[in-house]
Amino acid sequence: MDCFSYRNGELYAEDARVSDIAASAGTPCYVYSQATLEDHYDRLVDAFRPIDPLVCYSVKSCSNLGVLRVLAARGAGMDAVSGGELYRAKAAGVPMSRCVYAGVGKTDREIREAILGGLGLFNCESEEEFENIARIAGELRRETRVALRINPDVDPKTHRYTSTGKKETKFGVDLERARRFFATYGRDPFARLEGLHLHIGSPIYTVDPYREAMTKTAALVDELARDGFAIRSIDLGGGFGADYESAQSPPLREYAEAIIPLAKPLFDRGVRFILEPGRTIVANAGILVLSVLYTKTSGDKRFIICDAGMNALLRPSHYGSFHFIWPVAPGEAMTPARRTLDPKLPGTVAQDVVGPLCETGDFLALDRVLPASIRRGDLLAVFTAGAYGMSMASRYNSSPLPAEVLVSGARAQVVRARESFETLVEHERTPTALDLRRTEVADGASARADAGAIHA
Ligand code: LLP
Repeated sequence: MDCFSYRNGELYAEDARVSDIAASAGTPCYVYSQATLEDHYDRLVDAFRPIDPLVCYSVKSCSNLGVLRVLAARGAGMDAVSGGELYRAKAAGVPMSRCVYAGVGKTDREIREAILGGLGLFNCESEEEFENIARIAGELRRETRVALRINPDVDPKTHRYTSTGKKETKFGVDLERARRFFATYGRDPFARLEGLHLHIGSPIYTVDPYREAMTKTAALVDELARDGFAIRSIDLGGGFGADYESAQSPPLREYAEAIIPLAKPLFDRGVRFILEPGRTIVANAGILVLSVLYTKTSGDKRFIICDAGMNALLRPSHYGSFHFIWPVAPGEAMTPARRTLDPKLPGTVAQDVVGPLCETGDFLALDRVLPASIRRGDLLAVFTAGAYGMSMASRYNSSPLPAEVLVSGARAQVVRARESFETLVEHERTPTALDLRRTEVADGASARADAGAIHA
């Protein structure tokens, strides 16, 4: 479910009119619905209640502090993959003891700060990394908890860029190496190797890969027990689908029903379960609102040129992902019944929705059936954009990052101000030799520059 709906031909985020939000926050802007975030989080907790997991929201999916705070207030822990994400979790008021920290390239500084901060669990990805965590923990004389990330070698049947659980991946270690890993490192006095972690890919639209991964994990837990190593926690990662098109993803209940029968016997033996959902919580809790700058026809193709493209939402051009796009105020006759590739309304025509950047790959949708009436000045909403939207946005072509707005009921609050041109360049420095204000050379250079002006 989500709280973006058309009423009388106009899009609302909860009870706030999206065109009003765009008028005050400007475009491009991301708009998040607090009620949707909370509903998704609660549904997840409910669905998995028999194994009472710690839900560690995956910060990378949408890292805005306002969003993190909403989930933290619900009791969420956080799944981080960098010192920056741990910093955000802390800033959002999440205790470090409820945070897990994965990622194949943790630096010494990040590891040290995480240990000193009282991190809940390192999700360790390699032998060398374990040795480094153990060395740093030993030097600090601080105990820290570590889970080994394993690759159960299942095919999640998703985009190859986001498949992570196959054997040949940079993440984790394969199952055959896991027992050796415990035999080698399982008795370290400071880095306490006590858990298993897996994340097989994202998004995963069938429950079978989870069933297969959980079965293999349970077998490994038994083998490790026979080797004398008790597993205290299992982190099943994230990757549950979201509805990019209407009812595309199985309900959370179905994922839970596949996993729980396999996980419950371990839970009953005292194993603590952790989940790391990102997309399933935040994807449908966010839209991207854009303004149409121009329309044009090249050959037979009609283009809708918006004020942001792949700089604000990279997924369509990077993964070929589908995002439903529709005008914010289409009128009642043009309000679509469902969010699908072809909404089959009269007066629609296939068009490309593109951004302003100087790349042919800068698009949000190709050959998309949209109202033929869309014109300059209209607002468009890109749906299911909450996950991996703003968090993957770039400043390419010196585009200021979009604003972010959090809606609760009828109230809309800016939770990240739009960047200005000044903030775009604030970290850049002029090399001293070229400092135009201070050197004689520069005076000459600027005089020469004037002489070379296009219109002298
Ligand atoms: N845990 C780990 C270790 C992960 O690597 C990820 C996502 C998650 C949890 C959360 O997965 P989720 O529940 O959000 O699917 N940029 C891509 C997705 C990359 C996912 C990276 N890892 C996209 O836009 O689809």
